Amino acid sequence: MQTLLGIDLGTTGVKAALFAADDGHVLADAFVDYPLYHPKPGWAEQNPADWWQATLQAIRTCLTGASKHGINPSDVRGVGLSGQMHGVVLLDTRQQVLRPCIIWADQRSDAQCRWITDKVGASQLIEYVSNPALTGFSAPKMLWVRDNEPEIFAQARTLLLPKDYIRYLLTGVMAMEISDAAGTCLLDVKHGRWSQEVLAAIEVASSLLPPVIAADAVSGYITAEVATLTGLPVGTPVAGGGADNACGAVGNGVVEPGLALVSIGTSGVVLAHANTPQVDTSGPIPRVHTFNHAVPHAWYLMGVTQGAGLSLRWVRDNIGLPERALERWTGEDAYSLLSREAASVPPGSDGLIFLPYLQGERTPHLDPYARGGWIGLTASHDRRYLIRSVLEGVAFSLKDCLGIIQEQGLTLTQMRATGGGAKSPLWRQIITDILGVEIVTTNATEGPAFGAALLAGVASGVYSSVQEACTQTVRVLERTQPDSATASAYQQAYATYRALYPALKPIISQA
Ligand code: XUL
Repeated sequence: MQTLLGIDLGTTGVKAALFAADDGHVLADAFVDYPLYHPKPGWAEQNPADWWQATLQAIRTCLTGASKHGINPSDVRGVGLSGQMHGVVLLDTRQQVLRPCIIWADQRSDAQCRWITDKVGASQLIEYVSNPALTGFSAPKMLWVRDNEPEIFAQARTLLLPKDYIRYLLTGVMAMEISDAAGTCLLDVKHGRWSQEVLAAIEVASSLLPPVIAADAVSGYITAEVATLTGLPVGTPVAGGGADNACGAVGNGVVEPGLALVSIGTSGVVLAHANTPQVDTSGPIPRVHTFNHAVPHAWYLMGVTQGAGLSLRWVRDNIGLPERALERWTGEDAYSLLSREAASVPPGSDGLIFLPYLQGERTPHLDPYARGGWIGLTASHDRRYLIRSVLEGVAFSLKDCLGIIQEQGLTLTQMRATGGGAKSPLWRQIITDILGVEIVTTNATEGPAFGAALLAGVASGVYSSVQEACTQTVRVLERTQPDSATASAYQQAYATYRALYPALKPIISQA
């Protein structure tokens, strides 16, 4: 049997999953978590050494699990890498990590965003890299290091993104895969090469950036040392892979026009496939990102809400203490207990609105200083309303993303749901009702790791193209239709939600 290994380096942990190449079914998987540090409010860092140890352990556990079913590591045709976007890993001349990775969620680099915009020029920046400078992206984070830790930056010789650092350790190859490179704010997204114009304007040496490589081609091979550490055969090809959102799209078959992905991970995403690198030009700053897809010569438009699964996890950890206790007692997952509570109150949460800006917000406000909150609380609300309003607030933010994408003239025929949050039937129904479109799920139950494995299959010649890989392996499983009975409650609640940020901005944002 031919198998493919997908690795997804997420925000909460890393997943390794092994798939059968013929129909994509899951043979074994393993998840290993690692810490996320918030040294100051708005900061978010992780230790690349933690990623690496967790990755080795996840691969070992996954392969051991598979071997119990007679599936041999020598059947692995290729490895694909996926991961959280935008994080800055700086290496010195000896390829040692210079400081913890400043990850995608970190909001400290607003001053650097303004500086980049001034130096390059707002409209030129869009012309060169198709995106504005946002605190989420890599270049401002890197310049924060240059401004605030000059002695560290002086030693930096290479900038890598999280999954590309793992590629370096697996294969010895330093490279940045194109769909991830798109999120640096340094890539000429239209042509798929580093923007020399932006690099010159911000006075960054192009030697800091490794070569840009394709998502669906072999980037390197498993080294002898890694083979000993993991059980993977030496010389196993490692594909370029893709950013987590690009791989989520591939794994769900979102590889052609008309299809879109709605993803509820730590962040929430609405992503629509595009055949051209079109940019939201309706205002001074594009409110959705234009990034290269992991499909060659394709792009996607993407709106991001910073705190999706993150908001529900915050609820679980701070308000869901009874559910946490019950989880320990009965073994039932705290999230499913919370879901049951939320299901027992009506759509619209009787006027209680949650703003999910726990980590600032990208789409549509592009405001790193935004803060979240509940508005509309009365004495008749109880905990159940707090929980449901969080599910609804995240869905409203996704509706903001979808609305902007639709304004760009992209016609969407189907949305596919993915990510941990989309496993909840209640949350899926709420999102479907609020977005007002049919949402389906697919067999991509392992998230971006599946897309990464499919890219490994293309790179190693198992499939002839990304599209063929998807046709052969991706199947629609469940369909959720909008429930018209909820429409008016949600329309009213969404109108209130939309009015809240502008009204509260002076109070909930220091921008
Ligand atoms: C996308 C983004 C997040 C991360 C999450 O621009 O910042 O979705 O990729 O891992």
